[in-house]
Amino acid sequence: MKVLLVGGGGREHAIATALVRSSRVDKLYCAPGNAGIARIAECVPIGVMEFEKLTAFAREKAIDLTVISMDDPLCAGIADAFEAAGLRVFGTRKNAAIIEGSKAFSKDLMKKYGIPTAAYEIFDDAEKALAYLETSKYPIVLKASGLALGKGVLICEDREQARAGIAELMVDKKFGTAGDQIVIEEFMTGREVSALAFVDGKHYKLMTSSQDHKRIGDGDTGLNTGGMGTFSPSPFYTEEVHRFCEEHIYQKTVDAMAAEGRPFTGVLYFGLMLTQDGPKVLEYNTRFGDPETQVVLPRMKTDIVDVMDACIDGTLDQIDLEFYDNAAVCVVLASGGYPQSYEKGKVITGLDKFDGADGFYCFHAGTKFDDNGNVVTSGGRVLGVTAVGPTLKEARAAAYEAAGWIHFDGQYMRHDIGKAIDAAE
Ligand code: AMP
Ligand code: GLY
Repeated sequence: MKVLLVGGGGREHAIATALVRSSRVDKLYCAPGNAGIARIAECVPIGVMEFEKLTAFAREKAIDLTVISMDDPLCAGIADAFEAAGLRVFGTRKNAAIIEGSKAFSKDLMKKYGIPTAAYEIFDDAEKALAYLETSKYPIVLKASGLALGKGVLICEDREQARAGIAELMVDKKFGTAGDQIVIEEFMTGREVSALAFVDGKHYKLMTSSQDHKRIGDGDTGLNTGGMGTFSPSPFYTEEVHRFCEEHIYQKTVDAMAAEGRPFTGVLYFGLMLTQDGPKVLEYNTRFGDPETQVVLPRMKTDIVDVMDACIDGTLDQIDLEFYDNAAVCVVLASGGYPQSYEKGKVITGLDKFDGADGFYCFHAGTKFDDNGNVVTSGGRVLGVTAVGPTLKEARAAAYEAAGWIHFDGQYMRHDIGKAIDAAE
């Protein structure tokens, strides 16, 4: 069959790798793709928000399945556009993608259906939000309700910081209209675990667990990023945690969305915090995580196209979703200066070392070809180097070894990805 994948980040490179591994995929297109994806798929220069061009391309090429796992186009209705054009699509419809697109919606959903999450209030007026701060406990968490590239969350130590945060989000509009409405939330502590599930509207199948490292600096210091590295499975996602989430979070969320007339199909990402009072939902995403996907999909045994088909057809209960009994670690190589300003266009060397290196992956996130055909940096997060091994420790050692194969000017990485696993022993 012919498949079109929409997007061009590290997550999409990992999805593309899983798709070409499927015995059912004969031809893969990717719009717009990147320099790494170009090695396994035919990249087409269409942007992810150009719905008309994308659907026209899919019709012209008689695409059998289109796969979309990005928040912006999903929240703007790309899956609906494909369905309206009579095309088969794996991706969440707009009315369900709101579970990520509006934190106000997702918090109210959790409250209504008794799904554990941090206590909160919603504000669309800066004056009222400021007044609320007078009687709050600190630290406190401010969140832009809309999409903000994972950066619209401010953890404020005291009232002064919180006042400045409200000005940033609601008055200065640092994240644009995403800050028209904000959620002010109780600060929680605990380990964070990512649980991704395939969902078909009624049923879900959980993927293997993973953990992201969101801060830029070693020891979880500095600014929040899109994610600096991941490992899977998470030793903190125990059988006890799993049972709790099965009972109180996963099916309840799927049922809540169906009850609201917003049946969820696609990948539902549960960002969990393991607090002293049990697991709580930090956030939902309507897509695979980035860079969680770079450690989860290389461990998946089941053919991804079979699973996506079952999600579309509502037959996920008949799928036996299997993962290998191994581990994976992904180290992100970023441009120096990220997540603030950084330079682009740096030539990347060492990529050929991954050719034929079994158990190693170099997922491209922000790369492109320059006029001379060199692969150069084109984003903040440039590459995700993943290694698979029998244990987390072996996978971690291998991932750092392979990270050393790569070079570009200003290259930055964290040195403690997966260090938390030592504490689990
Ligand atoms: P979110 O985009 O909602 O997942 O938030 C981004 C990050 O902010 C999370 O991964 C947490 O590290 C942190 N965070 C969000 N909400 C809270 C909370 N209520 N308490 C403590 N940390 C939080
Ligand atoms: N790694 C966090 C996310 O995908 O939202």
